[in-house]
Amino acid sequence: MSVAARKKVLLMGKSGSGKTSMRSVIFSNYSAKDTKRLGATIDVEQSAVRFLGSLVLNLWDCGGQNAFVDNYLAAQKDTIFSNVAVLIYVFDITSTEWETDMRYFEGIISALREYSPDAGVWVLINKMDLADKEDPKRKKYDERRGDVVSVDERVKGKARGMLRCFPTSIWDESLYKAWSSVIHTLIPNIGLITSHLTFMRDLCLAAEAVMFEAETFLVIAKSGSPLDSDPSQMDDNEVKSGAKALDPQRFEKISEIIKGFRKTCQRIGETFSSFESKFDDCTVVLEPLTRNTFILIVSVDPRIESAMLTYNIYHAQVHFA
Ligand code: GTP
Repeated sequence: MSVAARKKVLLMGKSGSGKTSMRSVIFSNYSAKDTKRLGATIDVEQSAVRFLGSLVLNLWDCGGQNAFVDNYLAAQKDTIFSNVAVLIYVFDITSTEWETDMRYFEGIISALREYSPDAGVWVLINKMDLADKEDPKRKKYDERRGDVVSVDERVKGKARGMLRCFPTSIWDESLYKAWSSVIHTLIPNIGLITSHLTFMRDLCLAAEAVMFEAETFLVIAKSGSPLDSDPSQMDDNEVKSGAKALDPQRFEKISEIIKGFRKTCQRIGETFSSFESKFDDCTVVLEPLTRNTFILIVSVDPRIESAMLTYNIYHAQVHFA
């Protein structure tokens, strides 16, 4: 029996920026509205989330009130910042104390770079729903991102972990995009999963095969080119099936829609098990693949019947288990 890899994920940022809200929407099936009931996190709340059977995320949700942060940077520095795989740092785009926010960020990123030099950093600039109405071109986001990157460059020294920035809101699918990107880098055998999905897509004469984690519905991998690659890296079948023209946000939109649909099923006492649909020449099938994953297969060939896709998924299950 294989031993699950445990990865420490720190969730930090100023009080009220939305850390616990994100965690609850992604991992505990809260709706964005439900998060209004959440209280402030006291000190550090630890939880272990089993992801894909072979990966356990040790999530440290660190309360963001100043007194707690001062303590993380003084008495608890070693405990908090050692052995970190990923730091997710959440900013509130509406904050009126940006200079103070940056000072705290600098303290935290310096401690991280010192104690866990290989850790990846995801900076989520959150509550974009509140800023987008006044600033649709996202100038403020670009400025904030520029400040964050320059702080990291200043303190990075010889540390190797990279930093990525995402605009997020718990009210739309942007949250799934950012968290999928985090999870994607933590899964050890992602290359093998991608090649299995590509084989599956070609076997089914389909346009795309995508794997989702069963609980969170975060996208794990897709057929063809890696999830985070740009369109120039697409393989021949992706180019032929017109994947370049597809909505680049389709995966996180599907995550959000399926989670919403599953909640509706629960409300009316039904269990969501799978989904299939046919419109024009397009056939879409979403089925469980393993105990922890679902597979979505999209075909644009009018000759392909959904029964053929589900039959192939059924026979592929043993190879993915
Ligand atoms: P501490 O636990 O004190 O560190 O705070 P926190 O960062 O965990 O904040 P929390 O998740 O408790 O969120 C604070 C408030 O912000 C809640 O009322 C959320 O509903 C709200 N909130 C979180 N994310 C968003 C967002 O993207 N948009 C909007 N409009 N509100 C959000």
